[in-house]
Amino acid sequence: MPKKEYRTERLILKASKLVTAQQTLDYYRRNHNLFTPLDPKRVPAFYNIGYQFLLLQQDEAERQSGCGLRFWIFTKENPNRIIGMISFANIKHGNVSSTFLAYKLDGASLNKGYITEAIARGIRIIFEEVKLNRIEVAVLPRNTPSLRVMEKLGFVREGYSPRFMEINGVWEGHVRFGLVNDPDADWHKLPPHIRCAAYMAPKVRLAKLFCRD
Ligand SMILES: CC(C)(COP(=O)(O)OP(=O)(O)OC[C@H]1O[C@@H](n2cnc3c(N)ncnc32)[C@H](O)[C@@H]1OP(=O)(O)O)[C@@H](O)C(=O)NCCC(=O)NCCS
Repeated sequence: MPKKEYRTERLILKASKLVTAQQTLDYYRRNHNLFTPLDPKRVPAFYNIGYQFLLLQQDEAERQSGCGLRFWIFTKENPNRIIGMISFANIKHGNVSSTFLAYKLDGASLNKGYITEAIARGIRIIFEEVKLNRIEVAVLPRNTPSLRVMEKLGFVREGYSPRFMEINGVWEGHVRFGLVNDPDADWHKLPPHIRCAAYMAPKVRLAKLFCRD
């Protein structure tokens, strides 16, 4: 089972077991206006501490059963204030072996590359520790920053699915991305300290991200 906490160059990623409902509630309240147009419609109780507590318990049950993995993002400078979240849902093993990635960042922490750094670490956890074959993401066509994050991380644009997900009460089409853990890719054959740079040579910033721990 993956660890409950990971560190990157600037960030700490903590599983839901290590955060409080007050922290997640503060984070969602602070970002209500940013997240609402991009999230499923929330029930009013979502903004209650008891509901957040139940969500954290559900996360921990999913982590322990191996079907989901969520990490809350903190900066090393402020390890008590949540600045974002990455979530690997619907983890399936066997001949499908995939997970569905979602992510979001606090409005005060945008455009610093934090989410890219956090997802890069998450990808390593999913491919190297959970040993899945594939990570999927669905992005609204109007979500330019998120499309750019996909590009920076090397996700492949696979197509478009109409009416794919309910967003703020409306069934919206999404751009579909995938990243495959290809055992024949060169980076699997190289020692860890150089494989990032070799595999991601054209994407120098990404290569650096994969090498951080
Ligand atoms: C999507 C999200 C996580 C991106 O966070 P972020 O902090 O902007 O991400 P990063 O800094 O790692 O990268 C963003 C990139 O998009 C670019 N960008 C941001 N806004 C842009 C815009 N309006 N037009 C073009 N590019 C834009 C940035 O310049 C950056 O690219 P660069 O590194 O080449 O300069 C954040 O916007 C968010 O949480 N949004 C709300 C929830 C959400 O949309 N989640 C994703 C659902 S699929």
